[in-house]
Amino acid sequence: ATPGQCPFRGTRVGGALGSKPQTDDWWPNRLQVELLHQDPPQANPLRAFDYQAAFQAIDFEQLKSDIKALLTDSQDWWPADYGNYGPQMIRMAWHAAGTYRIADGRGGASRGMQRFAPINSWWDNGNTDKSRRLLWPIKQKYGAALSWADLMILTGNCALEIMGLKTFGYGGGRLDAWEADRATYWGPEFWNGQPLGENGNPGKQHLGHPDEMVTRDIRWVGKPDEAYYDLENPLAASHQALIYVNPEGPNGEGDPVGSARDIRETFARMAMNDEETVALIAGGHAFGKSHGMVAPTKIGPAPEAAPIQAMGMGWQNPEGTGFAEYTMTNGIEGSWTPNPTQWDNSYLENLFKYEWEQTKSPVGAIQWQPSTPDAPKTPDAHKLGVEHNLMMMTSDIALKVDPAYREICQRYLNDFEHFSDAFARAWYKLTHRDLGPKTRYLGPEVAAEDLPWQDPIPALDHDVVDAADISALKTKLLASGLSVSALVSAAWASASTHRDSDKRGGANGARIRLEPQKHFAVNRPQELSQVLATLEQMQADFNGAQPGHKKLSMADLIVLGGCAAVEKAAQDAGVNVSVPFTPGRMDTTQALTDVETFAWLQPVSDGFRNYHNNAVGYQVKPERIFLDRAQLLTLTAPEWTVLVGGLRALDQNWDHSKHGLFTARPGVLTNDFFRVLTSMDYEWKPADANEMTFSLDDRKTGETKFTATRCDLIFGSNAELRQVAEVYGADDGHERMVHDFVAAWNKVMMLDRFDVR
Ligand code: HEM
Repeated sequence: ATPGQCPFRGTRVGGALGSKPQTDDWWPNRLQVELLHQDPPQANPLRAFDYQAAFQAIDFEQLKSDIKALLTDSQDWWPADYGNYGPQMIRMAWHAAGTYRIADGRGGASRGMQRFAPINSWWDNGNTDKSRRLLWPIKQKYGAALSWADLMILTGNCALEIMGLKTFGYGGGRLDAWEADRATYWGPEFWNGQPLGENGNPGKQHLGHPDEMVTRDIRWVGKPDEAYYDLENPLAASHQALIYVNPEGPNGEGDPVGSARDIRETFARMAMNDEETVALIAGGHAFGKSHGMVAPTKIGPAPEAAPIQAMGMGWQNPEGTGFAEYTMTNGIEGSWTPNPTQWDNSYLENLFKYEWEQTKSPVGAIQWQPSTPDAPKTPDAHKLGVEHNLMMMTSDIALKVDPAYREICQRYLNDFEHFSDAFARAWYKLTHRDLGPKTRYLGPEVAAEDLPWQDPIPALDHDVVDAADISALKTKLLASGLSVSALVSAAWASASTHRDSDKRGGANGARIRLEPQKHFAVNRPQELSQVLATLEQMQADFNGAQPGHKKLSMADLIVLGGCAAVEKAAQDAGVNVSVPFTPGRMDTTQALTDVETFAWLQPVSDGFRNYHNNAVGYQVKPERIFLDRAQLLTLTAPEWTVLVGGLRALDQNWDHSKHGLFTARPGVLTNDFFRVLTSMDYEWKPADANEMTFSLDDRKTGETKFTATRCDLIFGSNAELRQVAEVYGADDGHERMVHDFVAAWNKVMMLDRFDVR
C-alpha cells in the first residue's frame, strides 16, 4: 500500500485487527494459556470501584419500589403480556441463574453473563434481550452501584412479590463481567456450517435455534432405554442453546417420560433434587405464557449476529407489530394457568384435574391441551375478551407421568403453603448458589437461616493468634517431626479445592478433616490423617494454654504449617522470606457439610500434584484439565508456572512418584525444575504408548536422569509457558522465583478469605 492510504483497503477479507484466520485457526490444539487472563482489569471501566460500599448505600426500599413500578408500566415498543412484565422477568432471572452446573461451578447468575455471547444468543434466551433493555431505566438510575447481575435477580424477586409470592430473601454482591467468557465449555455442538463471509463475518445469520446446531445428542452417553445413560461432564443442559431440556421432549418428539428422565439428569447437574426440581418448574410456570405465533424461519438473527442498527437486540420479528399478540419466542403458544399474573396452585390443580392431549401450536410445536372442553380457559395476553385453552409443555406433563415427580406434585397440590415455601427456598438457592459463602451477600434481605448449599462455616467467635504466637507456633511446627513436604501437602490440599466459579472449597472451615475431602485419593488420606493428628494435638496444647478468648482453629493451623514449611524450604535454598499469614479461619463441622455436593470438588486430574485418574477415560489431555484447574484458582500464567516449579521442588506428587522432581534436594525451594526443563543437556522420550509419562536422558551418556508427566513438560513445550519458565530458570531467576512462589502461595491460601477482603 502507498503511505497515506487505508491499510485495510483492497483485500477481500480485509486486514483489520483480529481478522481471520488467527493462531487458533491454524493451531487449534495449542494450549490456550491466554484463557487465564480473561476479563482483565483493563476491560472494566469502573476499575477499582468499591461495589460493596456503593450497593450498601442504595436505598433498597426505593430501588425495589422503582422496579415494581416499572413491572406494570407497559411500554409501546414491547407491550407487557397481561399488562405485567413480571413473568418475562422471572424467566430472565431463571435463565441467568440456570446456566450453573455443579461439576465445575461455572455458569450461573453471579457475573451477569446473559449479557454476552454465546448465552445472549441462545434460542432459549429468546427475547430476554427485551427484558434487559426494559430494565435500562433502573440500571441507568442506580449506575455503578447496581450491577446487571444483581439487578436481574432482584427483578425476578420483585416480580414474584408483586404477583403474590413471599420470597425467601435476596442477597446482592454479584460483580459484572465486562467481556464474553471464552473458557466455559458449553457442549460439543457447532453452529451449522461456518463459512467466512465478507469481512470475516459468519456467512450465516444465526437465530440461535437448536436445529441450527449439528452433532445433536453426542453429549449423551449411552442410550435412553439402556441402563447407562449419562450426560457429558460438566454439562447440565440437554443441548447447547437450551437452559435445561427441550420443552417438546428429547429431540422434540413429545415424549413426557423421556422428558422426565432428562429433566432429572439436568436439574441434578444444577444440584437440585426432585423436590426442588418440581417446585421450580411448577412454581415458575404458575406465571406468564409461552410465545409461538410466527415460524422460526421468519425471525431475524440472534443478537450476536443482528444488524448494527438493531443496537444489540435480536430475533427481529417481521409479522404484524412483531410483538404483543405476534410475539414469537420459543414456538409453543399459550399459558399454563387461568390467572398468569397471580401466585396460586392452579398449575398443579389443572395438571392433575384434567387429562391432557397432544396438540400443536400455530407454528407446529408440540404442546398439550386439556382433553375436556369444560376445563378453565386462560385470557389472551393482549386482546380483551378473548380466551384460549390452557397449555402444558411435554416437560410439564413429565411431572405427572414420572412416579417420583408425581408423588411430590401430589404433596404440593394438597398443601399450598408447603409448596409456596418449597418454591421460595428453591428459587433462593437457584439464584444465590454461585455467590459463595453467605458473608458475600449484601443488603437488608439476606435470609438469616444457614442453608446446607451455602457450605456454612461458623462465624469467628474468638480472638486470634498474634505475631508472637505465630512465631512460636512456626518453631513448634518445624520441630514437630512433620516434614516440609508433609506440611506443604496438608496446606495445599486444604486451600486448593477452592474454585472461583462458584466460590466453593478452600482452606476456611478445615473441611479437609471431614468427609468427603479427607478421603480424596489425591490428598493421600493415610498420611493426611497422621499430619492432622499431630496438628490437632498442637492445637489442643495451644488452646488449653490460653487464659482468655484467644484460640487457634485447625483451618488456621493447617495453613500456618504450610507457611512455616515454605519459609524453611526457601531458607534452605539460601533465600530469606516471610510468608504472609492471616489468621481468622474457623472450623466447620461434618453436620454443616453437604457430602454429596462436596464430592464434586474431588479432582479427577490435578497437575499440581501430578494426579491423573486414568480410569475415568478422558478425551482431554491432562495439561488441558490442568489449565482448567489453574483458571478456577484464578492463577495467571506466571503464578501457575511458579507454583508448579515450587511444588515439584517441595516433593508434592500425590503418589510420591519422582515425576518432575528434577532436583537432588527435594524439599528445598530451588529453581532446579526450571533449569532442567529449559536445558538442552537432556533429551525427552515418551515412556508409554499414550505419551503420558516421559524419561529425561543425558544426551552425552544416554543415562536416564529424571522422569516427568505431560503436566511437567507443558511448561517447556508450550511457547507462552516456556517464556515464563525461562525467567525462573535463568541465573537471576532463583530469588525471583522464591518471592513469586510465596506471593502465589499466599494468593491460593487466601482465595476464600472473603471475610478480610
Ligand atoms: C416460559 C420451558 C423451567 C419460569 C417458558 C417457555 C418455555 C419454558 C419453552 C416459553 C418461552 C416463551 O416462548 O416465551 C421450560 C422448561 C423448563 C422450565 C423446559 C424445565 C424443564 C422453568 C423454571 C422457571 C420457569 C424452573 C422458574 C422458576 C418460566 C416463566 C415463563 C416461562 C415465568 C413465562 C415467561 C413469559 O411469560 O414471558 N418456559 N421452563 N421455567 N418459564 Fe419455563
